[in-house]
Amino acid sequence: MNTHAPLIDPFARAIDYLRVSVTDRCDFRCVYCMSENMTFLPKKELLTLEELDRMCSTFIRLGVRKLRITGGEPLVRRDIMTFFRAMTRHLDSGALSELTLTTNGSQLGRFASDLHAAGMRRINVSLDTLDEAKFAQITRWGRLPQVLNGIDAAQKAGLRVKINAVALKGFNEDELFRLQEWCAGRDMDLTFIEVMPMGDLGNEDRLDQYWSLKDLRARLAERFTLIDLAERTGGPARYVQLQETGQKIGFITPLTHNFCESCNRVRLTCTGELYMCLGQEDMADLRAPLRASADDAALEDAIRAAIARKPKGHDFDYSRQKVDGQVSRHMSHTGG
Ligand code: 5AD
Ligand code: SF4
Repeated sequence: MNTHAPLIDPFARAIDYLRVSVTDRCDFRCVYCMSENMTFLPKKELLTLEELDRMCSTFIRLGVRKLRITGGEPLVRRDIMTFFRAMTRHLDSGALSELTLTTNGSQLGRFASDLHAAGMRRINVSLDTLDEAKFAQITRWGRLPQVLNGIDAAQKAGLRVKINAVALKGFNEDELFRLQEWCAGRDMDLTFIEVMPMGDLGNEDRLDQYWSLKDLRARLAERFTLIDLAERTGGPARYVQLQETGQKIGFITPLTHNFCESCNRVRLTCTGELYMCLGQEDMADLRAPLRASADDAALEDAIRAAIARKPKGHDFDYSRQKVDGQVSRHMSHTGG
C-alpha cells in the first residue's frame, strides 16, 4: 500500500503517528487549557471533513500507521462521525493499524457504539477528579455525571478506555488512590500528565499548579510495589505496573524527562497547520498546498519538507523556577 518512502526525520526517527485536531471548540473550559471567554476560529478557516480525509489519507499513504483524533473536543465537531466512518477504509485495508480518540467524554453516550462500529477499539478520556464539585470547578462548564455515563457507554460498546488525569497540586493530590482504585475496579489504565506551560498564564500561575510526577510516583510507592515497564509507545509516557493489582499506571513528564529521542509523531491542527514538535513554534501550512490543487503531489512535497525540519526536541523547563520554553498556543490548538 505504501508506494512511497516512509517519513524519516533528520534524526532518523520514523514518523508513523499523526495526531489530528478536528476542532478548536470544546463544551468545557478547563482552567489549564482555555480561558473562560475563548474566541474560536471562523468556520472557513477549518479544514472541511473532506479535506481532513484527504490530509489524513495522504499521511497514511506516506507511512502513517496510527491516527489519533483530538480537539478541542473532537466529538463536538458537526458530522464528525462521517469522518470516522471514512477512515474505516484505511483500517480495513491494513494501511492504518489504529484509529483512536482523545475526548473529554461528554458526548460518548451518543457516539460510543458508532465509534466502535467505525473500527475504533481504544480511547483516552481526560478526567482529573471524581468529585462533582471539583470537576465543575476545573472544567468550568463540565458535568461529571455526563462524563461518567459516557465512560459507561464506551466500555459497554467494547472500547478500551484509558483515563488521562492532569496532576494538579492542591487539587487532585488527595485523590491519587481514589482515582487508582476506581480505574482498577473498571479495568482502565490510568495516566498522569504534568501540567504544561501552554497558553496565556493569566492569573493562574502554572508553577503553582505544578505537581511533580516524581512526587506522585513516590506516593504511589508508599502503598504499592512499582514495577517499571520497558514498554514504550514512542511517546512521552512511561509505565509502571502495580504488583499488588496488576494495573498499569502511566506518567507523562514532558518537563522533567527527555523523551524526544524516540518521538514518532507530528500534529495537524484543524486549520491544516502541521506542528513538528509540541514544544516548538515552528509549523508548516498544509492547507495552502491542499487547496491549491486537487492532486496530492504538492501536499506530499509540503509534508516531506516539514518532516525534514522536525526539531530534535523541546525547550520546556521548570527547573529554574521560571517557565522557560513557554509556548503561547493554547493546548486546544494542537490537541495535546
Ligand atoms: N497541561 C497538561 N495537560 C493539558 N491538557 C490540556 N491542557 C493541558 C496543560 N496545560 C490535556 C487535557 C487532556 C489532553 C487533551 O490535554 O487534560 O488530557
Ligand atoms: Fe476541552 Fe480538553 Fe481543553 Fe478541557 S482540556 S477545555 S476538555 S479541550
